Amino acid sequence: MRAVLALMVMAGAAGTQAMAQDGPDFAAVGALFADRCVMCHSGDDAPLGLRLDSHAGVMAGSENGPVVIAGNAGSPLLQRLRGEAEPQMPLDGPPFLSDDEIRLVSDWVAAGMPEGAATVAPLPARVRPAPGEDVLWPDVEPIFLKTCVKCHSDNSKVGGPPEGLRLDTLAHVLASDERVAVVPGNPEMSEIWRRITGLADPRMPFDGPPWVPEEDIRLIRDWIAQGARDADGVAAAVPVGARVRLRGVLTGENEIDGAGFIVDGGTRVDDPPRIGDEAEMRGEVQADGSVRATRLRDR
Ligand code: HEC
Ligand code: HEC
Repeated sequence: MRAVLALMVMAGAAGTQAMAQDGPDFAAVGALFADRCVMCHSGDDAPLGLRLDSHAGVMAGSENGPVVIAGNAGSPLLQRLRGEAEPQMPLDGPPFLSDDEIRLVSDWVAAGMPEGAATVAPLPARVRPAPGEDVLWPDVEPIFLKTCVKCHSDNSKVGGPPEGLRLDTLAHVLASDERVAVVPGNPEMSEIWRRITGLADPRMPFDGPPWVPEEDIRLIRDWIAQGARDADGVAAAVPVGARVRLRGVLTGENEIDGAGFIVDGGTRVDDPPRIGDEAEMRGEVQADGSVRATRLRDR
């Protein structure tokens, strides 16, 4: 049996060499991956450990094993590109790859994945701003892309973004058409921060552990605290009137889990919660970024 296998492998390798002459090499495929895949598939936190930023990374495969098998049109990576295995890649699609782009990758696999002359070196590890430094969208974007987008996007593997919350672009992270998940300048009031710390249930990512590493939770907190700035350093507009819902422990008179809010004559208070009680607050973001409660109740 083993001898037969060895023979098959040798036959495969010989066939591969014959084909390799006219197939595309990794210079072309790597450029496509750089454009559409490596924002997620690079670094120590690459999904499933799959790094697509170098020939060696692709060949090393994922924690499930090889993703490309020479001459095999059913290779896992090709199945992902065609949507034969879900979620379809690139995960942040649509748009997915064009037929021509998929053909380029499948021709390369058919040719035995030649590296070519131009070697592509793996990307350096992500550099996190130190505490106290500026945190901009590009510093936190990989956290959302690698950890949250498989559920929170139109390509969601749970049949649609949960609670309508998409986390694949800055505009979606800041969207306020449903409940707002980020209150710029106010991390305690931001559901995204509350969920990744586990302050609000269920903790995110929903399929964790592993949870978001401490240093990335700190980055997201600093990013929100500094005004949820874009790549150019421009702070997000305050989503005046956007709705917020907090469920947690009343830690002060008008405070849930340390997030303070305004209670006034317009606040409807049912079954007034006492400090230490589980409470729910629904409110609206004010022009100054604070939150005015429209409703407060014991849970
Ligand atoms: C927005 C982030 C993102 C982008 C962009 C992306 N991926 Fe993925 N990819 C993921 C995540 C997350 C998973 C794991 C999904 C899961 O847990 O089911 C994954 C899984 C995979 C797998 C499955 C590995 C295995 O072991 O089964 C392959 C293959 C893959 N991606 C290839 C690609 C290719 C090729 C591209 C570019 C054309 C790409 N991905 C772009 C995030 C991304
Ligand atoms: C495996 C799928 C999955 C992943 C991965 C995931 N989520 Fe979720 N998310 C859900 C589901 C399901 C819900 C709804 C749960 C509920 O509240 O009952 C949810 C709810 C949320 C909510 C609450 C929305 C609201 O309006 O109530 C936030 C905020 C959130 N997720 C943020 C994140 C962040 C940030 C990440 C990445 C660090 C993430 N999620 C990763 C599935 C996922």
